Amino acid sequence: MRHLILGGTGTVGGVVVRGLLDKGETVRVLTRSAERARALPKGAETVLGDLTDPGTYERVFTGDDTLFLLTANGPTDLMEGLVAVNEAKRSKVKRVVHLSIHDVEKCPEAPHFASKIAIEHALRESGLAYTILRPNNFYQNDYWFKDAILQYGVYPQPIGGVGLSRVDSRDIAEAAVRALTDGGHFGKTYALVGPDPVTGESCAAEFAKALDKPVAYGGDDLAAWAKSMAAYMPAWAVYDYAIMYAMFQAKGLKATAAQLDETRTILGREPRKFSDFVGETVAAWKA
Ligand SMILES: NC(=O)c1ccc[n+]([C@@H]2O[C@H](COP(=O)([O-])OP(=O)(O)OC[C@H]3O[C@@H](n4cnc5c(N)ncnc54)[C@H](OP(=O)(O)O)[C@@H]3O)[C@@H](O)[C@H]2O)c1
Repeated sequence: MRHLILGGTGTVGGVVVRGLLDKGETVRVLTRSAERARALPKGAETVLGDLTDPGTYERVFTGDDTLFLLTANGPTDLMEGLVAVNEAKRSKVKRVVHLSIHDVEKCPEAPHFASKIAIEHALRESGLAYTILRPNNFYQNDYWFKDAILQYGVYPQPIGGVGLSRVDSRDIAEAAVRALTDGGHFGKTYALVGPDPVTGESCAAEFAKALDKPVAYGGDDLAAWAKSMAAYMPAWAVYDYAIMYAMFQAKGLKATAAQLDETRTILGREPRKFSDFVGETVAAWKA
């Protein structure tokens, strides 16, 4: 089968590309950057284009068998997702696998959740064969916090104390490869979650244990978080993520037993544990 991968130069999509190539599948990867195209694995075909540029749609969407529909967060997320649905339909893609967000309805006031609600709706109404994957907060977000954890002994992601069923992005990619290559998942929506809910305090404690030195949770003060992030993130992202973190602090994002079973069903095994991710990450940081 021939697969068109959106986001194939990023965290999840990059692992999807490698997983498909390992299975001998034909893979086309959309990127805006010739430089990032050069870093793609051997065997992946590059398509230069941009989901915000209608002049590129004809050469990007050329009737692939499947589409992995991932959009980056940002002010044009909604348009990009709707373009992908519309162009998949025009070019008669046979199956679409969409990366959304776990329990996305819980935070309709956050722009990157609201866009996923609308993209999911358009996809369900499109008549296309689809699978929707709804991952929780990625373990791999913690790579961004390496300096805070190692230099300052602080775990800074303000996820609060109710709990999130965070998930490994490699499990998300594996689920996507299964959905793209196995027709048995169409018309289905899967929560993708980790086995054990975590809190800000428990994430800090896990890094402290692996590093064998103190790591404290940075706390729930979102105004202080926004101020400290202003130098590292665009203003729209600080605004959008602060709304999401406020929801995490108030309601959490914990999987039900049925949602954990959905993850086991599509993976065919238990999802990776946060403690194992932290162990691997700390070992890599020390090396
Ligand atoms: N992080 C989390 O905890 C979490 C949890 C649940 C859901 N999600 C969802 O996961 C998605 C992000 O996945 P990720 O972290 O794997 O992405 P990522 O690493 O941020 O990569 C973004 C990808 O989008 C591509 N892209 C950006 N703008 C584009 C455009 N205008 N046209 C075409 N391609 C474009 C980039 O390609 P080029 O730069 O090469 O063009 C890149 O491959 C978001 O939808 C987010 O809401 C994230």
